[in-house]
Amino acid sequence: MLKQIIEDALNKQIKVEAESSQIYLAMASWAETEGLGGTAQFLYKHSDEERMHMLKLVQYVNERGGKAIIPELVQPAKNYKSLPNLFQTLLDHEIMVSGDINNLVDICLTEKDYTTHNFMQWYVAEQIEEEALARTIMDKLNMIGSDKGGLYLFDRDIESISVTTGATGKV
Ligand code: FEO
Repeated sequence: MLKQIIEDALNKQIKVEAESSQIYLAMASWAETEGLGGTAQFLYKHSDEERMHMLKLVQYVNERGGKAIIPELVQPAKNYKSLPNLFQTLLDHEIMVSGDINNLVDICLTEKDYTTHNFMQWYVAEQIEEEALARTIMDKLNMIGSDKGGLYLFDRDIESISVTTGATGKV
């Protein structure tokens, strides 16, 4: 049985992951309307992954005798100034999510809930990977600058951009 404080913290994280999915879905849709088809596909996939992160938490809370709460979500931004602006927003968002995950892990230790602590390790590893990926993308965009040919190639090749130090081995 989950302690109430752990259940509340997990439900808070469910909302964070659901909002992440919504934000990346909005980014994908924006990229698609800007003719950035490769970026759009990358972000649609990223949005699906965030939904999976949410679902994993929902099922864990329910399995442990808690009650997962499916949250109301805020509407994400509709427009981005540029591709670097979009990916900087994504990187900042992932850094914020990492902070949330670390807080949750901290609560697990304080409350001596080692089962949830163990469950959360997957998220800790995932955050290392997601931040690294976002940083790799920003490095590439900074190198490209305003070169149109470079941006064209970036959009074409984004799906093959991956991190080699990823904790789970997937992009
Ligand atoms: Fe589920 Fe990108 O954090």
